[in-house]
Amino acid sequence: DEFIEIAKKALQDLLKETEENLKNTISEKIENFSFELPDTTYGLPLIYALEGIKINNLIELKRFFERIKESFTQSTDAITLSLNYLYLSEIALSLNYINTESIDKSSEFKFYGFLGDTIQRTLGVQLVDGRIPAVAVLLGRLDSDKLLSIIKELQEKRILTFLIGAVAEEFLKSGQRHGFEAYIVPVGTKTEHTVFVIDWAVRASLIFGGQTAGDKDAIIEYVRKRINAFAISFGSLNEKAVAMALGAAVLAIPVITDQSLPDVSIPEIAEYPLLTAEKDYSKIVRKAIETRGLKIVVEKPSIPVSYGPAFEGERVRKEDTFIEFGGQKTPAFEWVRMMDVAEVEDEKVEIIGTDWRNRYEQGGRMPLGIIVKVAGKKMQKDFEPVIERQIHTFINEAEGLWHIGQRDINWIRISKKAKQAGISLEHLGLIIMSMTKARFKSIVDRVEVLLYVDEKDILTLREEARQEYRRRDLRLARLTDEEVDKFYSCLLCQSFAPKHVCVITPERPGLCGAFTWLDAKAAYEIEPTGGNQPVEKGELIDPIYGRYSGVDEYVKKHSGGQIQTINLYSIMENPMTSCGCFECIVAVTPEANGVLIVNRGYSGMTPIGMKFSTIAGMIGGGVQTPGFMGVGVNYITSRKFLKGDGGIRRIVWMPKELKERIKESFQKVAEQEGVPELFQKIADETVCEDIECLIDYLTKVGHPALEMEPII
Ligand code: SF4
Ligand code: NI
Ligand code: NI
Repeated sequence: DEFIEIAKKALQDLLKETEENLKNTISEKIENFSFELPDTTYGLPLIYALEGIKINNLIELKRFFERIKESFTQSTDAITLSLNYLYLSEIALSLNYINTESIDKSSEFKFYGFLGDTIQRTLGVQLVDGRIPAVAVLLGRLDSDKLLSIIKELQEKRILTFLIGAVAEEFLKSGQRHGFEAYIVPVGTKTEHTVFVIDWAVRASLIFGGQTAGDKDAIIEYVRKRINAFAISFGSLNEKAVAMALGAAVLAIPVITDQSLPDVSIPEIAEYPLLTAEKDYSKIVRKAIETRGLKIVVEKPSIPVSYGPAFEGERVRKEDTFIEFGGQKTPAFEWVRMMDVAEVEDEKVEIIGTDWRNRYEQGGRMPLGIIVKVAGKKMQKDFEPVIERQIHTFINEAEGLWHIGQRDINWIRISKKAKQAGISLEHLGLIIMSMTKARFKSIVDRVEVLLYVDEKDILTLREEARQEYRRRDLRLARLTDEEVDKFYSCLLCQSFAPKHVCVITPERPGLCGAFTWLDAKAAYEIEPTGGNQPVEKGELIDPIYGRYSGVDEYVKKHSGGQIQTINLYSIMENPMTSCGCFECIVAVTPEANGVLIVNRGYSGMTPIGMKFSTIAGMIGGGVQTPGFMGVGVNYITSRKFLKGDGGIRRIVWMPKELKERIKESFQKVAEQEGVPELFQKIADETVCEDIECLIDYLTKVGHPALEMEPII
């Protein structure tokens, strides 16, 4: 058919171009010149995932190139052709990378280029919990106004969008906020750059899915089923774009075009039409979502600015601020209180204070006490802090509104732009009221928000709030695994890692850092059929290793029989599995008779001779890997940290940034455990990055791990 002929032509051209490029590169460098794309442990990820061949030098690259060339002269089937085009694009981009060490020097703008492993792991939780319901690719050329309004629409729908081609440049020119936090990532200017997004899609199967590289059919199936992606192409489609669309179709990524073309389907490749036409720009996003078969529901307060996680990370700088509250400059606090139904007037927002309208209109600074009264049949006192913590997100998701801190150290800013757009003080209350109702609808029946703006009221109420914060902290500190009658599971990551089960206990939070036991409990009440389920503890089989009969039963059932038993407090014997979005990795360091911990985001070397990305590539996918384990940051300072293996005394090395982050709580635990000097004895990268030096250091400072029973 015609499309296949066009794709063939594109492949042929790219073959010729790449051959030339390859020859030149080899003559300039040396034949076995080795290279790595930035921040990945998967070679050229697409070729590695589908073919099982990890390419890290020019000889291997050439060998694979010859294979494609040969297959081109022989094979005619559409899938092979499509995949070969994608492989070849990946090779072409790698050569480009080797030659320029950057993505596109011809442009004055900085594009993101290759998308590394770290950011993909960081976004893991957002992808599974629906904060990012889909991934979009925009290609081609479109004028700025239309482009920006389409991007706004995608951002409001929380869709992570990659820009390729003229649209990427156009967007950067507009000077708008970009990056993963803004849900909008300009990747590069060539059609081939689409492969970087495809790399992302297939790599998910390795990072989260526990798939084996080279298991082509299983990986294609995984991507088709679990990665919700679509592409929208603007302007006329050239041969390259057609070839790319064929390749995308193999992975169930439909392409919507603004050109008048008949819808094209190639049933042997995809159940979706390969190309779907939609000329109306106000409908094109909806068309794409429909074609991919997605349902995206957006909850948004009625306010005069944009709303959604894409606007969460934006800063409001001092010079752009119209008015601010708190931040140690004026007294402020925020407090969620559970009340009787009769005490809460539903959907009411009230501002209490003298002459508040005028004071707001003047801008500058104001004191602010936020009280959120909630009532509901299924509401519990324990959920107050869970809801209260969301105030941060609720406010930040509004464009031009900014929030940091919590409790009595909160700090809120409203930008001049947001004020111009019509944001008032009532809107602040309205955001909190309507989002609390929307996101917590099954535990909260009534919500009332009171905003106090007179200093005298705030000081009195803040004292009351502080007493309540203290009571909460005390209760939290008393929550232990033994004390509670149930644990909770988290199965959210099963949408990517089908065999992985997180068991969340008061003393062991989820490994992504997003769920404490209280969060999981609240999530279960909010959505009883959701990703968090109660786990009956059953019988305590081993208090040191943390083995419970109920946990074993649960994990066995929900891992599809893969995992028979887990120890909640051990890395060496039947440890908990990992998905892919862990905050830290604990890795046994046999020479030091202990463990090291490395956080995602630390890109340097560790004393076991591997970087975070390398170790991360060895674990995950819901498999038990004794000696290696993904954990949340907060687990490190739990009294149950590796209790079965000897506890925190085993920690011999951590990156400095991680040490600083946990310092205070670590010190407390270390004192309770009778090792108050432990913190200073733990090495970091400023002390050493290799094992000999580490051992010297540990010996010099008399680290307790050296005296303990052998860890292996
Ligand atoms: Fe995934 Fe575990 Fe976090 Fe749940 S708690 S989102 S399963 S890592
Ligand atoms: Ni914001
Ligand atoms: Ni995960």
